[in-house]
Amino acid sequence: MLKNAIATLPTNGYLNLEIPKGIDLIEEINKMRKEKNAIILAHYYQTGDIQDIADFLGDSLQLARAAEKTNADMIVFCGVHFMAETAKILNPSKKVILPDLLAGCSLADSCSGQDIRKMKDKYPNAIVASYINCDSGVKAESDIIVTSSNAGHIINSLPKEQQIIFAPDKNLGRYINQTTGRDMILWDGACIVHEAFSLERIARQMLDHPKAKLIAHPEAQKPVLQVANYIGSTANLLDYVVKDDNQEYIVATEEGILHEMRKRAPDKTLIPALTIDDTCNCSECHFMKMNTMEKLYLCMKYELPEILMDEEIRVKALKPINKMLEMSQAIK
Ligand code: 13P
Ligand code: SF4
Repeated sequence: MLKNAIATLPTNGYLNLEIPKGIDLIEEINKMRKEKNAIILAHYYQTGDIQDIADFLGDSLQLARAAEKTNADMIVFCGVHFMAETAKILNPSKKVILPDLLAGCSLADSCSGQDIRKMKDKYPNAIVASYINCDSGVKAESDIIVTSSNAGHIINSLPKEQQIIFAPDKNLGRYINQTTGRDMILWDGACIVHEAFSLERIARQMLDHPKAKLIAHPEAQKPVLQVANYIGSTANLLDYVVKDDNQEYIVATEEGILHEMRKRAPDKTLIPALTIDDTCNCSECHFMKMNTMEKLYLCMKYELPEILMDEEIRVKALKPINKMLEMSQAIK
C-alpha cells in the first residue's frame, strides 16, 4: 500500500493514505517528534494548528537560522518548498521532509537558474542578489541571498558603485531601491498574495477605521506601500504590533500572521487588509495552506516526501546563503 502511495507522490505531492479513525493527531505527532528526534519548523503563514504544534515558528530568516542550528536528526518543514530546500542546503546529512511537496511559491516559480544566467550574460559586471523565495537553481547562480528582514541591511553593505541584479521579487526590489538609493536591475516576479491587496478597498477601510495604522509587507505593490504607516518583514510586522502603542491595525500581509499577532497582542484590534476580489481568500497563500495536520502526521510517520538535491547545486547554493547568515548577524 505504501509503495502505491509513494508512486502517487509526483502528482499528489503527499502520501494520500487513510488515517485511522479516532486518532489524536497532536498526540501522535508529539510521540513521533520524540521517537525520531525531529524538529518541526513552521512559517507564520501556516494554519494556526500547525503553528501551535511547531518547535520553532518564524519568518524566512529566523527559519533559515533555526535550520542551521538544529541538532535534530530530521527537520519537518512546515512552509513552502524553497524554505525546506534551504534547510536541506544547510543540512545535507539530515533528512528534511515537507508535508506537501507541491507547496510552491509564485515568486520562486517565476525565475530559474537559466534565467539568471541569461541576466548575467546581459549584465556581465553585475552581481546577483536573490530573495530567499527562489529555488536552489537560482540560489546557485547568486552571489548573495537576502530575506525581507535583512535585504536593506545587506544591499546597503555592498559597494555603492556595484551594479546589482535583484531577483525574483520586483516589489521588494523596488522598495529596497527606494530605501537604499540603489538602482538594482529587477527581475519581473511577484507574490500572488501580496499583489492582491487593493489600494482602493484599503483606503475605504482606513476611512472606516480612522485610528487604525496600515502595516504592510514589502512584497506588496508600491501604491499600498506608499500609504502604509509601517513596512516590514513578517517578523518585523509582528514585533511592531506588539511594541507599538496604537490600538488598531490594518494588516496587509498573509493572514496566517494574525494567529501569532492575536496571541502576542490580545488587546489589539487587527483588521486583515482587503484584496481586489472578496470571493477568493486572496490574502491566504494557498501554497502555504497546502500543509495540513493530516499531511504533517503522514509525512512524519513515513518520512516522506523528502527533499532531495543535486549535490553540485547544493554546494553552489550554500555559499550565498552562508554569506547572508554571516552578514545579517546583527538582524533579529
Ligand atoms: P518573510 O518570512 O521573510 O517575511 O517572507 C514572507 C513570505 O512571503 C514568505 O513566503
Ligand atoms: Fe510565495 Fe507569496 Fe506564498 Fe510567500 S506568500 S510562499 S511569497 S506565494
